[in-house]
Amino acid sequence: MQLSKAAKRIKPSATLAINELITQRRKQGEQILHMGFGESPFPVHPLVSKALCENAGQKSYLATQGIKPLREQVSKFYEKMFNLQYPPEQIVVGPGSKVLLFDALVALDGPLFLPAPSWVSYQHQARLLEKEVYHVSTSPDDSYRLTPEALEQSLQQNTRNPWDQKVLLMNYPCNPTGHSFSAKQLKALASVAKDYNVIVLSDEIYGLVSFEGQEHHSIAEFYPEGTLVTGGLSKDRSLGGFRVGVMLFPEDEEKLLTSICSIGSETWSCVAAPVQYAAIQAYQTTPAILDFIRDCAQIHELATRYVYRQVHGAGIRCPPPQGAFYLMPDWNEHEKALKGMGITTSKELAETLLKKWNVASLPGSEFGMPPGNLCIRIATVDYDGENALQTFRENPRQALANPDEFVNTIAPRLVAACSQIKEFNSSIS
Ligand SMILES: Cc1ncc(COP(=O)(O)O)c(C=O)c1O
Repeated sequence: MQLSKAAKRIKPSATLAINELITQRRKQGEQILHMGFGESPFPVHPLVSKALCENAGQKSYLATQGIKPLREQVSKFYEKMFNLQYPPEQIVVGPGSKVLLFDALVALDGPLFLPAPSWVSYQHQARLLEKEVYHVSTSPDDSYRLTPEALEQSLQQNTRNPWDQKVLLMNYPCNPTGHSFSAKQLKALASVAKDYNVIVLSDEIYGLVSFEGQEHHSIAEFYPEGTLVTGGLSKDRSLGGFRVGVMLFPEDEEKLLTSICSIGSETWSCVAAPVQYAAIQAYQTTPAILDFIRDCAQIHELATRYVYRQVHGAGIRCPPPQGAFYLMPDWNEHEKALKGMGITTSKELAETLLKKWNVASLPGSEFGMPPGNLCIRIATVDYDGENALQTFRENPRQALANPDEFVNTIAPRLVAACSQIKEFNSSIS
């Protein structure tokens, strides 16, 4: 059978591929320290599992946009947690935010601008659609944060008519770097987006995994008419496999919303019915759910900051995290020494870490960085989430007061991975 041109342009998602590889190698008895895949490890909240069981009999197809009681709950949740007002009519619930982002790229005209680095899937989604992709460069010294100046320069360089529509996809807190934006920074980016007719796809799936001192703001606060916000249950509620994502639409954009629902109706139809009913529970703003979100986020913060301290403390350049559960260290300062070891690309760097040091990571090139930029993305979730949550809840004060001790207790593989990275680093110098 012959493959289509679109199929030839696509390969398995790097994150899912590394996860399968590591699962296989672990099954064969190998001790791999897994910093390659970023799945939040906490258990399903008991109220959510109960709701799922109670709704096992929901077997009918549902409206593509998502059931009204769920959209009503999502609306209340965004108002309470982010102070964003989106009535249920301006919300679509889809099978994960990844699919909703893809559908938005199908529906929206114009080239895609992506900060480099950016999450793995965006550029591949755009490629499937034969969309032009422009990477906007950022600097590790500014935590790889997109700046208004760099955005404006890229928009000027890469578009013929400044009034033609363009799309910008931003993600914060960021996978792969852990950085986020202040309200002031978002306002400045919003102003450039407005000036150049840029529609912003704002991937805020890690919004509630924001660390202390980093209140999450949305660019939609400053550019509501041109922003689509996405989120879902995969990260702060650890429900990646439930496949529930949401997209919030600007007022007066019924045509776009209808178009995205039409695309959904011809492809994924609707989110699984029992899951939609269970999701109503997951979007409650009751103490039971909000405490769970807060505790899990605090554990992510303890683990991610621990890894950051180890890596940064060993003299490896790595921007400090402000949220999510990833870090992006680089060894560009050691380019010459690494060349001597046969490492000239981030792919070779990640391969060496896996083969010689048993640490799985992802090369920066998977995130739109030039292949020769010697950076990798590491995830900080290789621990037993159920045990971590229980230990944290037994004595949260102690965990917060003694973060190293807490991480040593709940995440020995993470601790071992840090030691391996430090040893690898010493082997270079
Ligand atoms: C930045 C980012 N956006 C979107 C997603 C996908 O989320 P969902 O499970 O809602 O499709 C992920 C998952 O890894 C992610 O890291």
